[in-house]
Amino acid sequence: MLSLIYVSTAAPGFREADLAPLAQAAATANAVLGVTGMLAYNGAHFMQLLEGEEAAVEATLARIAADPRHAGLVVIRRETRAGRECPDWSMRAFLTPLSGAGAATRFAADLPDQFEPDTRVVFTSFASLDRKVA
Ligand SMILES: Cc1cc2nc3c(=O)[nH]c(=O)nc-3n(C[C@H](O)[C@H](O)[C@H](O)COP(=O)(O)O)c2cc1C
Repeated sequence: MLSLIYVSTAAPGFREADLAPLAQAAATANAVLGVTGMLAYNGAHFMQLLEGEEAAVEATLARIAADPRHAGLVVIRRETRAGRECPDWSMRAFLTPLSGAGAATRFAADLPDQFEPDTRVVFTSFASLDRKVA
């Protein structure tokens, strides 16, 4: 099982309203390939977890990397893992940043039970970034 996480910068024209249709189309395509994962978007950047059979994940990543809706894609983790961390999500999108006391705790509680501690930290840290800070 290949598991990878990347970050990228959203294209200037990308809007919050674009996220749900993107995730819906992604989930449909991922279901065919047996790819699962999650996508976080903070108004400026994406962080996405993709997991599945190696060839399926690599093919999906190649399509994603060529997508003009974002740029500067950097894979920050690429590992073979024993099991899926998002077994029930073909692709679930989260709109961040988190705000208010306890927001990170609530966000972490929404993540699947199968999430490993390191994955939990990396997504919660990303989701805590305040996109309004230059
Ligand atoms: C941030 C982001 C995440 C995406 N995630 C996925 C994904 O998980 N699975 C997928 O099939 N396409 C995903 N896409 C869409 C692909 O980039 C691409 O548009 C889609 O797979 C159709 O590719 P095609 O036109 O080459 O068939 C994502 C696009 C962006 C910008």
